[in-house]
Amino acid sequence: MDRQLIKHVLRRDDFGATVTVAGWVRTRRDSKGGFSFLEINDGSSFSGLQVIAPGDLPNYEADVLRLTIGSAVSVTGELVESPGAGQRLEIKASTVKVYGFADPESYPLQKKRISFERLREIAHLRPRTNTFGAVARVRNELASATHRFFQERDFLYLHAPVITASDAEGAGEMFRVTTIDPARPPTADGAVDWGEDFFGRPTFLTVSGQLEAETYALALDRVYTFGPTFRAENSNTRRHLAEFWMIEPEMAFADLSDNADLAEHYVKALFRSVLDGCEEDLAFFDRWVEQGLVERLSSIADSEFARITYTEAIELLERSGADFEFPVAWGADLQSEHERYLTEVAIGRPVIVTDFPFSIKAFYMRRNDDDRTVAAMDVLLPGVGEIIGGSQREERLDVLEDSIRLKGLDPSLYWWYLDLRRFGSAPHAGFGLGFERVVQFCTGMQNIRDVIPYPRTPKSADF
Ligand code: 4AD
Ligand code: MG
Repeated sequence: MDRQLIKHVLRRDDFGATVTVAGWVRTRRDSKGGFSFLEINDGSSFSGLQVIAPGDLPNYEADVLRLTIGSAVSVTGELVESPGAGQRLEIKASTVKVYGFADPESYPLQKKRISFERLREIAHLRPRTNTFGAVARVRNELASATHRFFQERDFLYLHAPVITASDAEGAGEMFRVTTIDPARPPTADGAVDWGEDFFGRPTFLTVSGQLEAETYALALDRVYTFGPTFRAENSNTRRHLAEFWMIEPEMAFADLSDNADLAEHYVKALFRSVLDGCEEDLAFFDRWVEQGLVERLSSIADSEFARITYTEAIELLERSGADFEFPVAWGADLQSEHERYLTEVAIGRPVIVTDFPFSIKAFYMRRNDDDRTVAAMDVLLPGVGEIIGGSQREERLDVLEDSIRLKGLDPSLYWWYLDLRRFGSAPHAGFGLGFERVVQFCTGMQNIRDVIPYPRTPKSADF
């Protein structure tokens, strides 16, 4: 007989039909009438399914009465209307098959609440909790909505390399990829000879697929990447990971304002997709994790993002009279406290900040005519701060070479990137959206370690 996922069974109304489900026991209650209630969850939806296990089941004593939280079972039975409050339907079991018991003495997920910190230590079991099941479903919805959004707009999905020889951000925060034995490295002139390494040169895990995306955008018009991204920055905050996922669209024949439009449409499409597709999960987060979440998501999905320049942002911050830990001054990067002040207090909705100083941004951003700012943009959201960083790209060969040198980088390492400006150069623009930060925003989860299955952070790569 065909087994069905619980989310599909919960929508049925053909009472009297026989159905089979399988999953993990969330609760068992034994009635004085000599039967038991089981709640089974298979992760397909927030809600589980109530099962009535009659006392005359052949294995009632031997199995059913031994079921505890976390046991794996399959149940076949009749779909019936539920007389009890709390559910519309239930299954009256004719068979309960146990696949695996979970010893309540040692199984850590019992009825009482467990802190998120403790759950990180048992990250292999946390997807069985309400919270982490809901996070996984929201994450999946956002990934699916990402592909729908870009595919509907004729963006081509590009697989950028994970191992790279170039530093896309020029910030030097890269993990080295090597097969050299650290105890016996080959040397030349007293230094490690990377020419002897696997790739015959130094290689790293990518910090961004942008440079590769640009090469394809200048051939296929519009592309996007969606892949793992690595940063060896020693940031132990609730919004930084050493391994995270980034979505990077890149468009040819586009400028900064096209880029900001795309970013705004994309972010709103993401919010609408979880509001429509994850109603039950959001209701849970709204109740237990962040009150007002649903209201906030829907109001942002319908609101227009503010757009201000970096210079205006600095003026706003200077005039605020607020007491910031980091000083506000033209030329200094916006800190997370500044970002949050702008979007939460000063403007009260998402903000796109544009035209940052050249001195604090990456080499590839297009220099503005004032010669001190670049066509950069950051999208800031209340609560999480920056979720998107992007820019119009420098398409002028001489200016780009100059920028690379001014940043202390070696133009010869970027020869292929510079070729794009030698042959058929065209204006183009793109951005990167930090996937986990969006999952944080959509769930209200405070710590980024709790919105990715297995977080990698400084001094921590368990599992
Ligand atoms: O602003 P970033 O560094 O931009 C880039 O990498 C560009 N190459 C993107 C592009 O134009 N194609 O990173 C983009 C976003 C940030 O806004 C943030 O949301 C996220 O990536 N991000 C991180 N998320 C989690 N942990 C980290 N350590 C992150 N660093 C950046
Ligand atoms: Mg950034």
